[in-house]
Amino acid sequence: MKALVCTAFGPIEDLRVQDVAPPALGEGEVRIRVQACGINFPDILLVQGKYQVRPPLPFFPGGEVAGTISEVGTAVTGLKAGQRVMATIFWGGLAEEVVAPAKAIVPVPDAMDMLCAAVFQGGHTTAYHALRQRGALKPGETLLVLGAGGGVGMAAMQIGRAMGARVIGAVGSARKVEALKAEGFEELIDYGREDLREAVRTLTGGAGVDVVFDPVGGELFGQACRTARRNGRILIVGFASGQIGQYATNLALLKENAVIGVNYQQFFAQERAEVERNFTELMALYAQGRISPRIDRVFTLEEAVAALATVADRSVVGKVVVTLGG
Ligand SMILES: NC(=O)c1ccc[n+]([C@@H]2O[C@H](COP(=O)([O-])OP(=O)(O)OC[C@H]3O[C@@H](n4cnc5c(N)ncnc54)[C@H](OP(=O)(O)O)[C@@H]3O)[C@@H](O)[C@H]2O)c1
Repeated sequence: MKALVCTAFGPIEDLRVQDVAPPALGEGEVRIRVQACGINFPDILLVQGKYQVRPPLPFFPGGEVAGTISEVGTAVTGLKAGQRVMATIFWGGLAEEVVAPAKAIVPVPDAMDMLCAAVFQGGHTTAYHALRQRGALKPGETLLVLGAGGGVGMAAMQIGRAMGARVIGAVGSARKVEALKAEGFEELIDYGREDLREAVRTLTGGAGVDVVFDPVGGELFGQACRTARRNGRILIVGFASGQIGQYATNLALLKENAVIGVNYQQFFAQERAEVERNFTELMALYAQGRISPRIDRVFTLEEAVAALATVADRSVVGKVVVTLGG
């Protein structure tokens, strides 16, 4: 099979498409013929060797896929060859075939196409867990989303709106402001041009926000923390800026704020019933047309490095997908 191969941790430009042996199938696993692989920010960190975990080398990046089951392990029940499925696999997805544990497999609903299925889980499942379990966002509350044009950020914008919150999106360029306007969002801040804290103060009449959703970190995190009102919850989702944000704990005391970590991988591994309930609720929102990933561009496997580069250089709005096998 063909795969995008990482032989040493380093720049994404070093990745090459090669012919490799298909992975072996374990008894509790399912083999998927991959049709599309969604690209996420952690894919780049994994290749660079900067992620919390380091895959054994060589490996193929690509953490979420959609495709058709071609083979099931002897201990697998309830899944069969020919079924359209999506899976979160953390790596291995930029390849014509992947094997995934049966518990990581979710059937693709009839109404969902395979491009959408390939990008649905990375952003929306994380954002939903963050806002539902970690942030306990309530209808009528105000949500500030940083990196609102990114994969996880745009998912948080859609889910926040669907949960009945007032949603303020903050992005780093005019192009992303325009893209979010086209998605029907009106309260937008361009932190490439405006002071975030001042802009939130103006929009909220000085009241501040109830929940901050931060996948960016760094300097912006510090500014965003100062926009939280009493009882505010600050959700630490990621560090796309490459910098871990600093927090002055006196703010927590003064405003009775909570700084809350979000780790979907841990949640996925340890809270099976909640994971499944979240997924059912997300699917209902999708079926109602209230959430849907925005696919910015589609690439082939040969163009996969360019797909990763659009995420690394901040030019993607929403998600990019790599298609495989024609
Ligand atoms: N906690 C979890 O469970 C979990 C799960 C999934 C992902 N994550 C993390 O969430 C973060 C975002 O993931 P994503 O897939 O949404 O990524 P993404 O699509 O690339 O979005 C990240 C956003 O961050 C902003 N940004 C600011 N400085 C940046 C920089 N130096 N480089 C790149 N982006 C920068 C960009 O928006 P502007 O250009 O508008 O500033 C970009 O749209 C990552 O750190 C990822 O590891 C965490």
